[in-house]
Amino acid sequence: RNVKKEFTSHALDSHILDYYENPAIKEDVSTLVGDDLASCKDETDESSKEETEPQVLKFRVTCNRAGEKHCFTSNEAARDFGGAVQDYFKWKADMTNFDVEILLNIHDNEVIVGIALTEESLHRRNITHFGPTTLRSTLAYGMLSKPSWGLPIDAVQWDICNLPLRTGSVDIIVTDLPFGKRMGSKKRNWNLYPACLREMSRVCTPTTGRAVLLTQDTKCFTKALSGMRHVWRKVDTVWVNVGGLRAAVYVLIRTPQAFVHPSEQDGE
Ligand SMILES: C[S@@+](CC[C@H](N)C(=O)[O-])C[C@H]1O[C@@H](n2cnc3c(N)ncnc32)[C@H](O)[C@@H]1O
Repeated sequence: RNVKKEFTSHALDSHILDYYENPAIKEDVSTLVGDDLASCKDETDESSKEETEPQVLKFRVTCNRAGEKHCFTSNEAARDFGGAVQDYFKWKADMTNFDVEILLNIHDNEVIVGIALTEESLHRRNITHFGPTTLRSTLAYGMLSKPSWGLPIDAVQWDICNLPLRTGSVDIIVTDLPFGKRMGSKKRNWNLYPACLREMSRVCTPTTGRAVLLTQDTKCFTKALSGMRHVWRKVDTVWVNVGGLRAAVYVLIRTPQAFVHPSEQDGE
């Protein structure tokens, strides 16, 4: 069986390239083109066969390859592996209407074969709700692990500028602030960020309280923080790439200074 056909440009689907959003990672990703295998099959009287024969499982192979020393491309690996799967299991290769996506991950001399459990790209595998600004699980995990605390998680929805929490009662706040691009606006950030830092300083325990904040609107954040130096001290800044945007994760420590309500400040 001749499965060694030349691959056409559509072998690299855009959604497959989404597996690696970071262009700095030079990896080779290819999906077996179903037609290349399907065209090698005996296609005589296909329609009448479908009516009588039990349904054949359809599959495709996606190969992710990283490493310099391979004498094959990911196209060739996906094609040959797909050919072997087809021969062994008698499954049918189909690029678009497949039941199973087989992942062939080749990294230097290591090969890992898996089955895709989600149609989304791998970095989104643990996400259950896809919003317009959904964080990558890796970045969310990194932010949560910054303070090195594993805590049970509960879900509530509150206004960060008006939290129903007692003053000095919170150990740590981890937040993904609106960048003002797809969520909110840069203009609104000028009010939101100072108000957010002020309320966070109220609820966080002086001296031990911590905050980990992600934003791409660093200009606005820096300005807001400069007005809050008496309650927040910046101890770390980690630069991250969020969908091509240069963003910062700021790690803040609550200073020992007690929170003073703005109305009390006015009376001073
Ligand atoms: C960058 S998005 C966070 C996305 C989230 N990390 C995710 O993965 O889905 C910023 C979020 O802040 C919320 N937000 C804006 N103003 C807020 C406020 N005053 N209080 C609480 N949340 C607010 C927005 O509704 C938005 O969901």
